[in-house]
Amino acid sequence: MATDVSTGNEIPQPESFSFDEESNQAIEKIVARYPAGKQASAVIPLLYIVQRQMKRQTGSAWVPTKGMDAVAERLGMAPIRVYEVATFYFMFNTRPIGKIHLQVCGTTPCWLRGSEEVFKACKDAAHVPGYGQTSADGLFTLTEVECLGGCVNAPILQVDDDYYEDLDYESTVRLIEALKRGERPAPGSVIGRQTSAPVGGPLTLIDVPGE
Ligand code: FES
Repeated sequence: MATDVSTGNEIPQPESFSFDEESNQAIEKIVARYPAGKQASAVIPLLYIVQRQMKRQTGSAWVPTKGMDAVAERLGMAPIRVYEVATFYFMFNTRPIGKIHLQVCGTTPCWLRGSEEVFKACKDAAHVPGYGQTSADGLFTLTEVECLGGCVNAPILQVDDDYYEDLDYESTVRLIEALKRGERPAPGSVIGRQTSAPVGGPLTLIDVPGE
């Protein structure tokens, strides 16, 4: 049984893990992208496949040790090499998480644009005591992450695989209340910003010569 380094608690692991039909089909396509002998390069997409299969089967998107072992076996790698990758990247959850994963970007541009209010709204509305924790009903896990690459529309909250942008306290609470009702609002800017254009619409390249 693995130990959670943040709490010192044992992480309950499934007794076995094997890829299901949907995963096997995806693996076949991914592995085919790499030349013979270079299949180990598929380790990251295969870890994602494990995480998604766990979500389908248990409701929690995480990568158990047995899942890492299955990736190692499929790619002909030493298990330790897969463990190294899975524990290095924060997008892989190496312990069970809630049904919905709230990831608050706390890096400088998001912080300057109010990520602390987003964090507070997550705590208040999702009833999660703090980062690295899960609500008592098992619905939400809250994680602080580094730059999500969406700074232009900061602050960003990632909900599972979706980005919600231009948030403040009130809009974050509204989003979480919708998630609680089982809804999944359209991702993107919550203030209606067009992609990454300035608020209110584009300001450049709006005059077309000759028109
Ligand atoms: S700092 Fe938050 S997305 Fe870049």
